Amino acid sequence: MADPVRIFEVGPRDGLQNEKAHIATRDKIALIDLLSVAGFDRIEATSFVSPRWVPQLADAAEVMAGITRVPSVGYAVLTPNLKGFERALAAGADEVAVFASASEAFSLKNINCSVEESLARFNPLMAAARRAGIPVRGYVSCALECPYSGAVYPSAVRDVAGALQEMGCYEISLADTIGRAPPEATRAMLAAVLGVIPAARLAGHFHDTSGQALANVEVALEMGLRVFDSAIGGLGGCPYAPGAKGNLSTTALVSMLEDRGFATGLNRSRLTEAERLVAELAQEKEIEQ
Ligand code: HMG
Ligand code: MG
Repeated sequence: MADPVRIFEVGPRDGLQNEKAHIATRDKIALIDLLSVAGFDRIEATSFVSPRWVPQLADAAEVMAGITRVPSVGYAVLTPNLKGFERALAAGADEVAVFASASEAFSLKNINCSVEESLARFNPLMAAARRAGIPVRGYVSCALECPYSGAVYPSAVRDVAGALQEMGCYEISLADTIGRAPPEATRAMLAAVLGVIPAARLAGHFHDTSGQALANVEVALEMGLRVFDSAIGGLGGCPYAPGAKGNLSTTALVSMLEDRGFATGLNRSRLTEAERLVAELAQEKEIEQ
């Protein structure tokens, strides 16, 4: 086997945040519990964002209280500001993630402030996380294309990723939020970011709108990245990114990686069970897969 690749499961958060149908808290908990025994070391379970902005995850505290924690799994949550961090801490999150955008237009639509303001807003959160000993991951949204303003310069991604690293994020996940990036664009973006951040601290987060997510993973693997985000059942999208479809499906990613000799440490039959639950929910609720 070649080097191990770590998969960061984001389905319960990035997947379920976008569902129009109401997903019951108990179903979210059941999904996380199935994923918890599949071998992931990190699962992004929910978001402590404003419930007015993302009503689908308004039950974040109940979800965190209801899951059966597996000690080897770190339960991560998304936090946009200090208030979100305090809620996450009270709910027992093991780590949190902040999210900035490489596009001004998306930043305004998604978190109602400029990119610079968003980075400044993370400072008190980072300080509180340091005091509490909670690791912080950083996302750069629209690292390739913005649903509102089109192509994004690699230098803009490099600058935002560099700022997140500087403020103390232990890993930066570079996101193709709308999932339309061709592999050549991913290569150019990664080349710019690798000028300021080593591959060991980067992750790829590819949505799969135009079916190129796996090709983008291939490019990122070639360039040295060994962490990828994906969602069980290909769930996902962002309510503030029109046209964004699901995340790269976890099982598709596992198959591709293992075919190429990369170990993932994941149990396929457990993943299939979790995928089955997503399919059942999809049938019941017409959620998007
Ligand atoms: P705002 O309205 O500008 O902020 O929202 P505000 O500070 O004026 O707060 C408004 C109200 O929300 C206040 O309540 C606050 O207390 C409350 P009121 O006094 O009016 O009753 N509030 C909160 N409540 C609970 N938890 C909080 C919180 N913060 C404020 N944390 C804000 C600004 C950032 C809060 C809002 O825009 C927001 O929550 N946005 C989140 C949007 C979101 O979650 N988008 C999807 C995730 S990003 C994504 O999917 C991309 C990613 O997957 C990578 C990729 O693919 O690109 C990560
Ligand atoms: Mg996403």
